[in-house]
Amino acid sequence: MRGPMSDLPLSLVDVTILAGEVAILNEVSVTFTGGAPTVLIGPNGAGKTTLLRAAMGLVPATRGRIAWGGRDDAPPDKRAIMFQRPVMLRRSVADNILYALRAANAPGETLQDRTQDLLTLVGLQHLARRPARRLSGGEQQRLALARALARAPTVLFLDEPTASLDPYATKTIEDLVRAIAKLGVKVVMSTHDLGQARRIGGDIVLMHRGRVVEHTPGAQFFDEPRTQEARKFMAGELLV
Ligand SMILES: Nc1ncnc2c1ncn2[C@@H]1O[C@H](COP(=O)(O)OP(=O)(O)OP(=O)(O)O)[C@@H](O)[C@H]1O
Ligand SMILES: [Mg+2]
Repeated sequence: MRGPMSDLPLSLVDVTILAGEVAILNEVSVTFTGGAPTVLIGPNGAGKTTLLRAAMGLVPATRGRIAWGGRDDAPPDKRAIMFQRPVMLRRSVADNILYALRAANAPGETLQDRTQDLLTLVGLQHLARRPARRLSGGEQQRLALARALARAPTVLFLDEPTASLDPYATKTIEDLVRAIAKLGVKVVMSTHDLGQARRIGGDIVLMHRGRVVEHTPGAQFFDEPRTQEARKFMAGELLV
């Protein structure tokens, strides 16, 4: 079956997700459209990872609706997610990418070229033959990004892609995210780094206790936040 042309716009409409009795997403309505990356921020436990997983289609809504390009049954082959702590296969760097390309049904005759292109894009061509699990944390994040891109996604979800990376590795990932966005891929990512949110976010979604409390363009969010929660969060006061 052919998927839709795009998963965009991607809409959650009044989505509630219950874990037992607790609403870990609580009547969330948010739409992601094409263009600059959307950045999710909010305190620990706010629901950022849950929102990313739901938008990827990995967790069903208990109530409400999730639609990709207007369809709530869109197959997941046009979207990809990178988790906070990616797990590498016990194979070489290049073989990790090859595996992802095969899993995405990339045509056999393109596999070698696309592996090289992805290695080059993320700057790992010199490490192609190294066992993936021996890469540094920053290198592993870049490999995980290449594997996610192997799916040729229209939407790419990144859950705290620079958590625990040093400033240089963080900048490398930020540059890559910008490059990926320029290629026309919609990026939706979470971060605890407000500087990063300001640098990367075309729009900012602030979450708190399972709800979206503010969704505004990046410049406006940082200069004139609309909500009390946003002002408090940026002042370091909105803890849980
Ligand atoms: N499967 C689950 N069962 C029960 N509770 C869950 C489940 N998944 C998530 N939660 C809870 O839902 C809340 C939101 O979790 P989530 O991981 O989405 O937050 P987050 O904003 O990503 O936090 P962090 O910044 O710490 O990564 C947390 O209280 C978490 O413990
Ligand atoms: Mg999280």
